[in-house]
Amino acid sequence: MDIALNYNYKVVKQFTIATVVWGVVGMLLGVFIAAQLAWPALNFDIPWLTYGRLRPLHTNAVIFAFGICGLFATSYYVVQRTCQVRLFSDRLAAFTFWGWQLVLVSAVITLPMGFTRGKEYAELEWPITILIAIVWVAYAVVFFGTLVKRKVPHIYVANWFFGAYIIAVTLLHVVNGASMPASLTKSYSAYSGVQDAMIQWWYGHNAVGFILTAGYLGMVYYFIPKQAERPVYSYRLSIVHFWALIFTYMWAGPHHLLYTALPDWTQSIGMVFSLILLAPSWGGMINGMMTLSGAWHKLRSDPILKFMIVSLSFYGMATFEGPMMAIKTVNSLSHYTDWGIAHVHAGALGWVGFITMGSIYYLIPRLSGKKEMWSTRLIDTHFWVATIGIVLYIASMWIAGVMQGLMWRAVNADGTLTYTFVEGVKATYPYYVIRFGGGLLYLSGMLMMAYNTFMTMREGIAVQARIPSLLPAHV
Ligand code: HEM
Ligand code: HEM
Repeated sequence: MDIALNYNYKVVKQFTIATVVWGVVGMLLGVFIAAQLAWPALNFDIPWLTYGRLRPLHTNAVIFAFGICGLFATSYYVVQRTCQVRLFSDRLAAFTFWGWQLVLVSAVITLPMGFTRGKEYAELEWPITILIAIVWVAYAVVFFGTLVKRKVPHIYVANWFFGAYIIAVTLLHVVNGASMPASLTKSYSAYSGVQDAMIQWWYGHNAVGFILTAGYLGMVYYFIPKQAERPVYSYRLSIVHFWALIFTYMWAGPHHLLYTALPDWTQSIGMVFSLILLAPSWGGMINGMMTLSGAWHKLRSDPILKFMIVSLSFYGMATFEGPMMAIKTVNSLSHYTDWGIAHVHAGALGWVGFITMGSIYYLIPRLSGKKEMWSTRLIDTHFWVATIGIVLYIASMWIAGVMQGLMWRAVNADGTLTYTFVEGVKATYPYYVIRFGGGLLYLSGMLMMAYNTFMTMREGIAVQARIPSLLPAHV
């Protein structure tokens, strides 16, 4: 019997499809709010469509729906393959799938209605927050339960990263989620004033560190060696940068609160740890890139590998830029401007988006009983369209951001401001239109992926109907 028959691929496949579907939804919302910033009339004076309500829906849809469904799919796949056992519990795994979808649908309903805790990336009201905690504990039981019953003595490094992400999110979510309900749809944070801000950005930054970084490094360490058919460049480096990364991230949160009421020494600690963070981040990037040693020629013909390697380049860029922006003098220019949005999307579209897309392209044929995707050319087109989209997005936002920062701080000889705020907004307009164009390209790439996924799975079903022994996906 094929060893694949012993694995639970059903839940992996469900999360894989969910990743693609939510990717389209989240990016569509991104494009829509980008259009609203250029043409504000697009809210049609309907409260549910206002920017303030759809923006958090975009961030929730791309991070918690697209991003985390991708992490569920890949972590469940990788932990089974590297431990050589089936998931700890099929029923609990199914519960995590349906429970997580319930969380996401609740977000789609409540955020446009205006129900929010008002904390960025932790907006969902207390009943949903509790549901998240329950699903997450189930996830931890499935993941770590599988590790415990593994058939190989060693725990492969990808699982270290997935494991750190699962543990850290539990901690962050429980601490920052603590609140006092006032009604079913309204609650107040358990913390107040500057402590509340500190807890919020300890959470916010570590969401970047453990979801948007550690989780995806888990993908890097499994899918890049697999796709390149080369061993990890340095296993020792992977362990060293793992511990350095998770230790350092925890202290960097105050860089989101520079020049605020937070005590100055706390801000300085945040700045210093952010600078240190460059080293372990680049450790991961270099290790991933060097895994291609001797296989660089594959980049010419393999678009999946292109996604993965370009993703690492964006990771390197974002983790160079982040420490620079954490330097107080630089932050005094960049904070509140679109430079921050450029930084976020270099990480989000380039790093998180591309490594997820590469890994999902790797998974889909394997889950469909096929050798490869329906169309390799379409993957290649997706890659180029999305790359041009990212460049337009981040270049326009960089220029807009630096321009805004400089305009806001410009003063005349008599000490009055050179520009009114609205002049800054007017000057930004063309860049918002370019960003919208970039977003549209990125979204059209995602639609190509959805179509390619559909066709691959449809073919897979047809093949399986003819040859039932090719049935790994339905066990
Ligand atoms: C088609 C692709 C996308 C477009 C057009 C887009 C557009 C936008 C826009 C217009 C904003 C609001 C900016 C502002 O308030 O000034 C935003 C915020 C944000 N987006 Fe996207 N986005 C896209 C994809 C993504 C993806 C894939 C992710 C994550 C994986 C992501 C993560 C975020 C985050 C975290 C924020 C909040 C940033 C902050 O508060 O500093 N976006 N996006
Ligand atoms: C060494 C690593 C990194 C450091 C030191 C860092 C540092 C920073 C700094 C200083 C800011 C601006 C804070 C402000 O002025 O408000 C920021 C914002 C942000 N960064 Fe990074 N960054 C790093 C990597 C990344 C990566 C890989 C991502 C992945 C997507 C990312 C996502 C974000 C997001 C979403 C925000 C916006 C938060 C908000 O205000 O809503 N960062 N980062």
